[in-house]
Amino acid sequence: MPRVLVVGGTGLAGRAVTAAAIDRGHDVVVASRRVPDDDSAEFVPGADYRSADLVSGDGLEEVLDGVDVLVDTSNGAGRAASHVFATGSQNLLHTAARFGVRQAVLLSIVNVDRSAYRYYRAKAAQERNYQDSALETRIVRTTQFHEFVSSIFQRGGLGIIPAPAKTSFQPIAVTDVASILMDAVEGRGAANATRTVGGPRVETSRELAKQWKSATGARGSIVSTRLGGALGATWRAGDNLVPRDAIDGVGYSDWLSSSVV
Ligand SMILES: NC(=O)c1ccc[n+]([C@@H]2O[C@H](COP(=O)([O-])OP(=O)(O)OC[C@H]3O[C@@H](n4cnc5c(N)ncnc54)[C@H](OP(=O)(O)O)[C@@H]3O)[C@@H](O)[C@H]2O)c1
Repeated sequence: MPRVLVVGGTGLAGRAVTAAAIDRGHDVVVASRRVPDDDSAEFVPGADYRSADLVSGDGLEEVLDGVDVLVDTSNGAGRAASHVFATGSQNLLHTAARFGVRQAVLLSIVNVDRSAYRYYRAKAAQERNYQDSALETRIVRTTQFHEFVSSIFQRGGLGIIPAPAKTSFQPIAVTDVASILMDAVEGRGAANATRTVGGPRVETSRELAKQWKSATGARGSIVSTRLGGALGATWRAGDNLVPRDAIDGVGYSDWLSSSVV
């Protein structure tokens, strides 16, 4: 079985990818700056956890030695986004090429190159680094995760559940994302190409907020809120939706019923 490196494998998507890779019988190494404790929720039994920093490059040679395929599920918040996505992916891919890694898979976001949102611009730079790399590359762009949509509703203050105005989402389960990423790791789908996938249904933010409210028992009124800036514009333009690429996966309401939110 090939040795698979999950970069950012302690994160939300990375944990699901690590679990799927172990389930499929791969030899799995996980890289992140912090190595999780064996009894933490981030720890997937069977994976080999190592510390590495994409931005400084510390530890990259050690984690890439002997790896056949890498899958990048790293993330960065705020200013760190451009460091992790632009600089970090350069460091990772150059070191991977030196160590003879054959293939790379990147988790990205649908229509990420069509938005002026700063985080998306950094993500688009990351995609370009993968496209330009010496490795055989597969990019998987997905719609927003169920957890991300729930986080919007959770963010409201007392008595308010914010639902972005004139906005729909097509949320997807990270378990479905992980399975699609693992197909790419195993070489399925065209090489040096981008695959776009969306959750099973497009629903308005108000419809999704109602489902979240009912599943969580949250109190408060669902209030239509206008999200300013480039991200709000991207969502209102529907650039977060790919209805033609909907998969037959776990929908938001089923995910809510089976999750602690
Ligand atoms: N949220 C969504 O709806 C959505 C939809 C489509 C695609 N995506 C993409 O999916 C990816 C994963 O998102 P997520 O929410 O699963 O991320 P996350 O939970 O924030 O996890 C990020 C991972 O990256 C690691 N990391 C951060 N900085 C690092 C560095 N300098 N060096 C090495 N590792 C580093 C973190 O570990 P340490 O902090 O310990 O280093 C962690 O393992 C992102 O690229 C995001 O753009 C997200």
